[in-house]
Order: sequence, then structure tokens, then C-alpha cells
Amino acid sequence: MSPPGTPAQHAVGLLGLGIHLPERVMTNDEWAERIDTSDEWIVSRTGIRTRRIAGEEESTADLALAAARAALADGAFEPADIDEIVLATDTPEVFIPDTSPYVQDRLGVGHIPCYDLAGSGCAGFVLALDIARSRAISHGHRVLVIGVELLTRLMNWEDRNTCVLFGDAAGAAVVGPGPDAVEIVAATAGTDGSKSDILGVEAGGTRVPITVERARQGLHKHVVMQGREVFREAVSRMSQASHEVLEKAGVPIDDVALVVPHQANLRILNAVARRLQVPQERVFINVQKYGNTGSASVPLALWEAREQGRIEPGDLVLLTAFGAGFHWAALLLRF
Ligand code: UT7
Repeated sequence: MSPPGTPAQHAVGLLGLGIHLPERVMTNDEWAERIDTSDEWIVSRTGIRTRRIAGEEESTADLALAAARAALADGAFEPADIDEIVLATDTPEVFIPDTSPYVQDRLGVGHIPCYDLAGSGCAGFVLALDIARSRAISHGHRVLVIGVELLTRLMNWEDRNTCVLFGDAAGAAVVGPGPDAVEIVAATAGTDGSKSDILGVEAGGTRVPITVERARQGLHKHVVMQGREVFREAVSRMSQASHEVLEKAGVPIDDVALVVPHQANLRILNAVARRLQVPQERVFINVQKYGNTGSASVPLALWEAREQGRIEPGDLVLLTAFGAGFHWAALLLRF
């Protein structure tokens, strides 16, 4: 670890990567037993076949902690090697405080600064990597970045328009300077606040406080969205962000070995691949197994791509994500 406030001497990038998945697998047929849907509809419209569901006794900090420990082990770090934690989630441990203090305490990292990107939707993890990169460059910090969601707790389990889409998971990365870092070559991000109401949870804040009637309707804990609008924006913004980050890095798309997009829907991923003019085999896809896991989806996909040997040393890997806000972000990595 560098002394605090010392700018990074080495390239800044990923120094460790880890994930955690709840054990319980839920199939489309199980959804079809509960609501008016079918495996055929879900697969043809989304590509999703299964998703993981956290156990009743599991909370956000549990999943986050397990992923964090896996990322530390992957980089051969001890908790004491971490200088800062940033955690992205839409499903916090409690309303106040944010979730990262719970992870800090249980990880035993000491009184390092911790903060959440709360409600940053599915783009949260990639946004957090960009922020962590800045902290690593300016302070020489090693930052633990976590994307964690228990999105199945934020669903109306009777609303077929949303409930079949999501799953629970956590992913984490250690970001910092190091001679062997997976370098973050360039990053970009953006937000369109005029679309805030198209995807989100309506009640529970100061604008629409919880009342008994609203609580009875579940408005404080149910995601609502205009699916088609979200679909269009996701394709457009993930493609745009990809082009932007490649332009910043001065790298043509043909030099990218693998695109790892936010896993929202197979049709969205195919449309992004078409817009980027990247062949399907250079786009990593695991949405069929896990559904949309929000801010956990990119680290989960990146981790699995690495595990499956889809990434070679020297490869350029493009991350791109989009979510509620609307927020979007893209990042170029060199392995
Ligand atoms: O990370 C961002 C989070 N959000 C997303 O990723 C969502 C993005 N949007 C989507 O993925 C797609 O818009 C959906 C998968 C949500 C919907 O696909 P679509 O092709 O846009 O379908 P649609 O909205 O045009 O709905 C078609 C029909 C509707 O029936 P009617 O009104 O035409 O009779 C829906 O009621 O499909 C119906 N439907 C279902 N039918 C069976 C909606 N959900 C289901 C379901 N099973 N689960």
C-alpha cells in the first residue's frame, strides 16, 4: 500500500475479481406455476432460463461480503490491504445507513472510508470502477468495488412484466495500482435525468412517502418500468458508451477481443452486438443462467468469461452497462 495521498506509480486496474451466487436456482417452469407465463415466452423474449434466489435468511451484506472475500483471495490480499470501499446496490441492507459500512465491519478492514452508489441501477458497478480508478490514480488507494443485488426482493412476484427478469448475485473487484493490474485503459459515463421515472421504485422517498395504503400496495418495494422504452434506451446507450470509450482510448472495435455487457436481456445484447458490428462470439452472454442481476451482472459476466478461458493475456475487454437513472457507463480493460 502506498502512503495515503500518494499518486499511483503503476498502471491502475483490476487486481482481483470475485463473485457470490445464492444456491437456490429458480426455473421458468416454476414461474409458470405461480403466474400466467411460460418457459417459451420468457426464453423467446428475454433468453433467460434460470435465475438465483437468495434465501430468506440472506441479506445484501451477506452476498456482498462473500463476493468481497472472493475478490481479495483472487488478488492474494488481506482485508488490511484495502484503503476504501465503494458498493453499488439498489437493494440496501437497511434504508440508513448505506450497505458498505456493514461490509467494512464484517470484513475487518478497519476504519477506512466507505460509501455506496445507491439506486444507480444496473450501471452501478461500472460507474463504481470508474470512481475507484480515479481514487487509485489520485491517492494510490486500493479500492474494493462491490456490485450486489437481491433484486428478487424488489419485485412484485405477481407482476409478470417484471418478476421473471431479475435474479440475485454479487460481484466484487479490487482496483488499484500494480505491475500486474488488468489495466483500466479508459472509462466513460453519462446520465439522462429526464428519464428518471421510466424505471424505478415509486414510493418510499420524500416525494412519495410511505403510507399504510401505499405499503399495502407494495409501492415501496416493487420495481416498475416501461419495458419497451428501457429496452430501446439500453441498446442505444450501451452502444454509444462503447463507441465513446473506444474513441477515448483510440482503439478500433475490431481490436476488442470480448465485449462484456450488462446482462439485461438476450435481445438487448444481440442488438448491441449488431450496432457495434461485433460478431456474436465476441460478446459474452450468461443472462440465460442468472437473469438480470443489476449491478452484479457485469462483474459476474467478467468473472465467468475469465473462468471459461474466454480472455487471454493482452486482450482488450470492453465493459458496457445501462440502468435506472438513466445511467450508463463503459470501460476498456487490457488483460
Ligand atoms: O437493466 C434494465 C432493466 N430492465 C430491462 O432490462 C427490461 C427491458 N425490456 C425488456 O426486456 C422487454 O421490454 C420485456 C422483456 C420486459 C418485454 O418484452 P417486449 O417484447 O417488449 O414485450 P411487450 O412489452 O411488447 O409485451 C408483449 C406482451 C404483453 O401482452 P399484450 O399486452 O400484448 O397482450 C404483455 O402483457 O407480453 C405480455 N407479457 C408476458 N406474457 C407472458 C409480459 N410479460 C409476460 C410474461 N409472460 N412474463
